[in-house]
This record gives sequence, structure tokens and C-alpha cells, in this order.
Amino acid sequence: MFDSGLGGLSVLREIRKREPHEKLLYLADHAHCPYGTRTLVEVRSFAMQITRWLCAEGAKLIAIACNTASAAALHTLRETYPDTPFVGMEPAVKTAVGSTITGTVGVLATEATIKGKLFSNLLDRFADDATVLTQACPGLVELVEKENYDPRQARALIKRYAQPLLDLGADTLVLGCTHYSFLKTEFQDIAGPNIAIIDPAPAVADQVTRVLTDKSLRSKIKLEENPNLIMVCTTDSNQAGRLSRQAKSLLGESVQLQVVKLK
Ligand code: DGL
Repeated sequence: MFDSGLGGLSVLREIRKREPHEKLLYLADHAHCPYGTRTLVEVRSFAMQITRWLCAEGAKLIAIACNTASAAALHTLRETYPDTPFVGMEPAVKTAVGSTITGTVGVLATEATIKGKLFSNLLDRFADDATVLTQACPGLVELVEKENYDPRQARALIKRYAQPLLDLGADTLVLGCTHYSFLKTEFQDIAGPNIAIIDPAPAVADQVTRVLTDKSLRSKIKLEENPNLIMVCTTDSNQAGRLSRQAKSLLGESVQLQVVKLK
């Protein structure tokens, strides 16, 4: 699995619940974080490098736990590695359009995700029956990456980005960036109990489970309580200590940590 930083751990947490016997190798590309303000071409080249590394490490399935990297590279990666199953992410527009009552939904994502072709295709396919409002959220990823962020600052940013969508009648907010999943409670508090907040992490984990089953990829060895099951890596050695502490607190268990230099 990979993401620009720790956001994709929200997906890892869900996969871990469903697949407790699988080894999970997670790469946080801190050297290039955030992805959301970069060009899709740049993000694609990072995703290619990371995938090369994951394949060399023996990955049997790759979950792109990042909407931005999926927007930039999913198609190319599938073409380049036809024998490796990829599970990508896209904002949950279909689910939101299927459940909105007001007919207006809001999608919060990175600038790059909103600009990508994957997203415009999604709108073409599913947004005919609803108004889909989009909002980029600069600063939110950087905030979630901080070890001790100020909750007031988080709430102020969320209010700034979510309120205009709510004012326009959105009754459903889609969290279109894996980092935002860690702020789901704050989004819900600010939006109020009548607004549905869609976090894609469980659905992506369900898809991983489906692919493991369909392709008979599930591990045959039962590795109960194996402390070495989760390996979390970063491309920036300066972030290793922080990532190890954050991963432990976000996942509720210890992980192994490694610094990786990509070529
Ligand atoms: N968490 C990622 C996503 O889902 C990337 C965010 C970023 O690095 O800007 O899009």
C-alpha cells in the first residue's frame, strides 16, 4: 500500500480488521508529501517508483491508499504491471448520489484529484441525478501530518471548506482524500448529525478482501498475533520517529518501521 504520507493508514486500519493474517507493507512518500498540489505527471512518476519497489518487495496486491495517486497513475500502473492486481481509490460520488435526499452532495479532495480525468469520468457516469459540488482543501493534509496539531485549527479549516457546501444544500459530504478520514469526527461535529459523511476506507478494504478471494491470493499461513505483520516505511528519514509514533497511535498496535530510498 502507499500514500503521500500517513493518510492511507486509515485504509490500512480497515484492511487489518478484515485480513488479520496478511502481511501489510505500507509506504508513506513523505519526501514528496503533499501530492495534492503537485501535477499529475509528477505524482505519476512517484507512483511508478513506489510500485517498482513494492513489486520488488514481493507485493501480491497493491492498494493505492491515495485518491491523488490513483487519479494520476492507476490506469498507467495497471497497463505497466498487468499481472499485479491494483485496488485504487476514487471519491465515493456514486454512493453519495445514491443516498442524497436534497440532491446536492459535496466532495472534499485535493486539488489534483479534482482536476484529474478519473474524477471527471466519475462525474460523467454518476452525477446526472444530483448536483456535485467540489472543494479542494489546501492545508488539511499538512495539518493531519503534524504530530500534535491544534484541534481548533483543524476545526477552523474544516468549517472554511465544508460550510459553503452545506450552505448550498449538500446533505452528504464525501471525504475524497485518505488523510481526511482521520478527521471524520470533526467533519461530523461541524456538519451536524443530519449530514452524512462518507469515508471511503471501509469500502476500499472490502474491495481488497474481494480481490484476495477472487484471485485466491489469501495467505495460507495463519500468522496469529505476529508483531511483524505490519511494516510501515517512509521515504524521509527525518519523519521516521514521528511516523512510528503516529502509526502506533492511529492503528492501536506497534509496527515495524523502515526508511526507504527509492531509485
Ligand atoms: N492522502 C492522499 C489522497 O488521498 C494524498 C494527499 C496529499 O498528499 O495531498 O489524495
